[in-house]
Amino acid sequence: MIKPEVVQQIQQRIDIIDVLGDFIKLKKRGTNYLGLCPFHGERTPSFTVSPVKEIYKCFGCGKSGNTITFLMEHEKFSYVEALKWLAKRYGIEIEEEFVTDEAREQYQQAESLYVVNKFAQTFYAQQLLETEEGINIAKSYLLERGFTNDLIQQFQVGYCPTSGNAFATAALAQQFSKDILLKTGMVVERNGSLVDNYRGRIIFPVTGVNGKVIGFGARVIGKADKAPKYINTPENEVYVKSKILYGLFQARQAIDKADECLLVEGYTDVTALHGAGIENAVASGGTSLTVDQLRLIKKYTDNLTIVYDGDAAGVKAALRGLGMALEERLNVRLVLIPDNEDPDSYVKKLGKEAFQQFIQTHKKDIILFQLEVLLKEAGNDLVKRNEVVNQVAESISKLSQAEDFTKMQGYVKQSAVLLKVEESDLLNLVNKIKRATAQKEQKKPTPAPDTLADITADTPETEVLSFLQENEPQQRNIIRLLLEHGQEPWGDNAKVADYIFMELDDFALESETLDAIYLKYRELHSQHLQPDTRHFLYNEGPEVAKLVSDITVFVHEVSKGWEQLMPTKDDAKQAQLQQDVVSSVHLYRLRMIKKFMKQTFVEIEQEQDEKSLNEKLLLYTELKKLERESTQILGSVIVK
Ligand code: CTP
Ligand code: MN
Repeated sequence: MIKPEVVQQIQQRIDIIDVLGDFIKLKKRGTNYLGLCPFHGERTPSFTVSPVKEIYKCFGCGKSGNTITFLMEHEKFSYVEALKWLAKRYGIEIEEEFVTDEAREQYQQAESLYVVNKFAQTFYAQQLLETEEGINIAKSYLLERGFTNDLIQQFQVGYCPTSGNAFATAALAQQFSKDILLKTGMVVERNGSLVDNYRGRIIFPVTGVNGKVIGFGARVIGKADKAPKYINTPENEVYVKSKILYGLFQARQAIDKADECLLVEGYTDVTALHGAGIENAVASGGTSLTVDQLRLIKKYTDNLTIVYDGDAAGVKAALRGLGMALEERLNVRLVLIPDNEDPDSYVKKLGKEAFQQFIQTHKKDIILFQLEVLLKEAGNDLVKRNEVVNQVAESISKLSQAEDFTKMQGYVKQSAVLLKVEESDLLNLVNKIKRATAQKEQKKPTPAPDTLADITADTPETEVLSFLQENEPQQRNIIRLLLEHGQEPWGDNAKVADYIFMELDDFALESETLDAIYLKYRELHSQHLQPDTRHFLYNEGPEVAKLVSDITVFVHEVSKGWEQLMPTKDDAKQAQLQQDVVSSVHLYRLRMIKKFMKQTFVEIEQEQDEKSLNEKLLLYTELKKLERESTQILGSVIVK
């Protein structure tokens, strides 16, 4: 934990132009700065930075945020890492504040491990590149396998001498404690003294996303007869197997650019691909994928291409992660490398272009691939074929219907043909599974159906209703008005915020994040703290900061229309703001009223108890009255 005072100190020092200028070439344009967006490929700049508002926004891809979210997005830092980066830049000392002794202990252990690992990596590299043994035995083996000096450098490959305790001795001389050395797995205890665990092995350092060495994979030179081919770092405070993808640090920018991540099995597959100029590859270490690994990939791209050996084990391993990958909304494709090859040998055989061509032409959608494999296994057995239908439906149901609806439909269509079943039957099955899973997961009772069609079915005021469709923008607009104009006067002795709270306090905003901002604003406002956009950009965490900067309007956005030509007088501006506030507030109110009416209506139909029925009917009449009020107010302000 970083102390709040320090966080504030960092925030006060932030200069968005200075920081973003490190990553993008920015040119001044009026009050704003303009550059090429680093988040999507573009030739004409649409990435706008406002030094006044301390936010950026890309009008091409829509990405927006503040300095901290920029570092998080661009450098894939965590919130704390971003703060630390800024602290370092501005020479602010960070004192970490620990909640418990245990947390402090863990932090110190991790820090020590990083230091030992860094020392070890340098030591092993020196052994490989600068000692006779290293050059003759290890480097010559690597060169033979196609490693270049550059590649060795990029992956910081090293070598541990055969002598028995060369590393242990060097490490102890540096005053590293025995306990920490044992924890790294690099040494083991024999007869009371420490000996090297990786004797005579090639060392592949494994880095975390931040580039720090967290562990090692140590490979025997040549064939592994008796000893295991690899020895890997045991789990410790920094080496957590389920969260590691080998090569990610070296591959991340290429993955971002290619918008695709190639997943292979081994260390040498990654290095070989990299050496061939295919840099967007990472390895899972031959085990099945974990959710954490999928999320790491998802930070950079939605497109995961698994490139495995064609053997049965590889295929099974690939399919094992399928459900999870779909739930994480990754587009997963699979490429099987021909028998007796692996990506390492195959890319060397084909060369860069032909290998890439091979990947492109042999990519199979993984759901359809699963279907093929299962169908082949089932043969003509009817019971088994039925099971296949169920399994495929299960996979398809994992695609969230809300967000991947078109994709889901596509799968249903294609799978139905292959399975020789009716498309509508398959769709029904998929929906049934979805409902069953939803019920299992959601212990809360599902709310009454609430689609727009439901709400508007019985209402004639179609004009007004077209505005109701866009619910999220409505809520954003309310928050924007609060943030940007909340402290401006409303009537003689109130503020805009007072009016908004008076009209909306009975209705929570449906979006949780927006409602959280609403409530926080109200809390600060009631304490007369005069909250503004800046407060929410810096004090309520990165998610809120992103949302708020997204909501905030840049000057040239509003001035697109006639306003640009005719600078409005203060009075006219005031009137327009008033109209904006009233209509925003009442549109949302109306929507919520209609929603309650709909719910109450359903309840009335089911109510058995007479007393409750009367209460509900009364409520309905009351809501109807409120509805009329809001509609009338809207009718008078909406002139469009
Ligand atoms: N692996 C491991 N321990 C082993 C064997 C394999 O941890 N005893 C992991 C390593 O991460 C390895 C991956 O599984 O990179 C794939 O194994 P394999 O294909 O045998 O190794 P490669 O790295 O491809 O090695 P090489 O090409 O040099 O044989
Ligand atoms: Mn291999």
